[in-house]
Amino acid sequence: MIVFGHQGAPGYAPENTLLSFEEGVRRGADWLELDVHRVAGELLVIHDYRLDRTTNGKGIIYHQPPDLIRSLDAGRGEKIPFLYEVFDLVNRRAGLNIELKSSGTAEPVMKLIDKYIQNQKWTLSQFRISSFNHPELKKIREMNSDIKIGILMYGIPLDLDQIIHILKPDSIHIGIEFINREIVELIHSKNLKVFVYTVNHPEDVKWMLDLQVDGVFTDYPDRVKQVMGKQ
Ligand code: G3P
Ligand code: MG
Repeated sequence: MIVFGHQGAPGYAPENTLLSFEEGVRRGADWLELDVHRVAGELLVIHDYRLDRTTNGKGIIYHQPPDLIRSLDAGRGEKIPFLYEVFDLVNRRAGLNIELKSSGTAEPVMKLIDKYIQNQKWTLSQFRISSFNHPELKKIREMNSDIKIGILMYGIPLDLDQIIHILKPDSIHIGIEFINREIVELIHSKNLKVFVYTVNHPEDVKWMLDLQVDGVFTDYPDRVKQVMGKQ
């Protein structure tokens, strides 16, 4: 079972900060998941479209000047990172699952990935793009026929086959509230991987192991590895 550090390791450091991604690597995550918004042409790593919950700022990120956003404290003195700063920090020590939050992220994210493959020895296999915004994923697939795409779902749609046909994904990412043996078997029958978010409780980890899901997103990568080691 693959362990994705969800926003790094927010059980131990402020979510989606360089500190959190370093902590995720240190605590054994195979991959790191991060959330990307595009603000004034820059790719910023933050979950919410508002600044209020995770920083000492306020308001909608799209309405703030980038200089002000970068001056904010995202916890323990950390800044909201640019996406390229996460690439540089991680430097191939873990795979990167980039979750596209805002529209208009597909093209600049793909450009940045291409740059790091050409100049910084990253390989395409070290990246995965996921999103609840399926039209944005479609743009990714149109730009690159090989990159791994993860379809994010909150709930279970009726038209899963159509989405799979269009996006040619590698994985389906499903909320733990909706997981069951039937859906795991259905997704596996389509030769796709099942990744589940967000799996933090040891009992939930054991349940996911029993269901034979292929990976989990967690705020506590070390905890998940520990439970896996005991099985
Ligand atoms: O990528 C899995 C998970 O992060 C999706 O939901 O809201 O945590 O970005 P959210
Ligand atoms: Mg996310």
